[in-house]
Amino acid sequence: MNYKFPIEFWWGSASSATQMEGAYNVDEKEQNIWDYWYEIAPDKFHNNIGPKDTSNFYYKYKEDIALMKELGHNSFRFSISWSRLIKADNSVNQKAVDFYNDVINTMIENNIEPFINLFHFDMPMYLQEIGGWENREVVTHYQNYARICFELFGDRVKKWFTHNEPIVPVEFGYLGVHHYPAIVDFKRAVQVGYHMMLSSALAISEYRKLNLGGEIGIIINLTPSYPRSNRKEDLEASNIADLILNRSFLDPSVHGEFPMELIEFVKQQNLMPIYTKEDIEIIKNNTVDLIGVNYYQPRRVKGKESIVKADDSLTPESFFDFYDMPGKKINPHRGWEIYEKGIYDLSINIRDNYKNIPFFISENGMGVEGEDKFKVNGRIEDDYRIEFIREHLKYANKALNEGCNLKGYHLWTFMDNWSWLNAYKNRYGFVEVDINNEFKRIPKKSAYWFKELILNNGF
Ligand code: BG6
Repeated sequence: MNYKFPIEFWWGSASSATQMEGAYNVDEKEQNIWDYWYEIAPDKFHNNIGPKDTSNFYYKYKEDIALMKELGHNSFRFSISWSRLIKADNSVNQKAVDFYNDVINTMIENNIEPFINLFHFDMPMYLQEIGGWENREVVTHYQNYARICFELFGDRVKKWFTHNEPIVPVEFGYLGVHHYPAIVDFKRAVQVGYHMMLSSALAISEYRKLNLGGEIGIIINLTPSYPRSNRKEDLEASNIADLILNRSFLDPSVHGEFPMELIEFVKQQNLMPIYTKEDIEIIKNNTVDLIGVNYYQPRRVKGKESIVKADDSLTPESFFDFYDMPGKKINPHRGWEIYEKGIYDLSINIRDNYKNIPFFISENGMGVEGEDKFKVNGRIEDDYRIEFIREHLKYANKALNEGCNLKGYHLWTFMDNWSWLNAYKNRYGFVEVDINNEFKRIPKKSAYWFKELILNNGF
């Protein structure tokens, strides 16, 4: 065996509520921004497919967890749907409590450790109506929601995450138009990001007060920024991209402080959010125990070459350009570069600059269109996915051997699920979901390959 991993390594996969639960309006679940957006603008969604049914985990979770066990998982991350758990009148939805309790208990009975994330892009609509993350009151609502989750489930769940990729709602909802409310306004975006960061620290403070003996962290898409060259303008471009898109959440989460350079940038650009001195103390005193890192692709950047016009809105890309590197390896279905060494580079960054804090690869994966054509005797032979995982794990292994505090690897995702921008176009799962045949689950070749890897703790 060439690549050996520690005995207690976390092997599994990740998911999110809106993308896999389905049952969007069942058992008193409230609308979230995705349900609402689909209702008013279905044509914004790939092939007009919205989040109504997704993969039906709400109905099939027992079968799904049994399959996870059969396929060797020792851990699985899912998110709680805030709009399912907390009703618009602030009361707790008992049917949602029963559902999540049963999911958690079934996982534990099957020796699969539940990792729970509290927010995966799905703001309840009743809170978006009062401004979503722009409104400080929503931070308080989130703090209460987090405390309720810890009180309800924290006796059994020992790994908690406050957010998944908090930069994404900022980037896509307030600096771009892919997520509701689809606004482009840098100042409002900074307020949103700031409030999300504060909400994370407040959730951590609630968790610590309860003394439940588990760990709490945050999941960040740590896309490493690589400059086109060592020329000054390229290095500056990569620094500013890293500062805004990575360090804005990573630094306060781990070090308890926003980078001084980011604060200066925000001041210079007149983008300072509304904040209080007490907030800064809360962020300082409530750093994470561990982080989850989602890694899909590198970010290649170069100094600004395209012309910024006077009427262009100010966005992070006003300060750098993306660099389309010739000859790069690419997943043509998603259009994302495949650069396995990124896992190693980001691990070394965490080791050297972030106190060698415990972390795990919380998402990595490959979305492929038209997997049916790879079917042999009814099973998808996804050798490309096996290769993708294997090559990334080689670099994860190298990072481990060089002293990085890497605790596990989760694939995105267990079974094919619905994507915010692409619905069911690109499939990521270990398990095929036949959406035209009662959401039937059929494990792909990679699922068995991964099972073998887990059994051997390496390959
Ligand atoms: C991650 C998200 O960034 O990427 C997931 O946490 C998402 O929610 C995944 O589905 C894959 O991206 P996409 O856009 O292909 O669905």
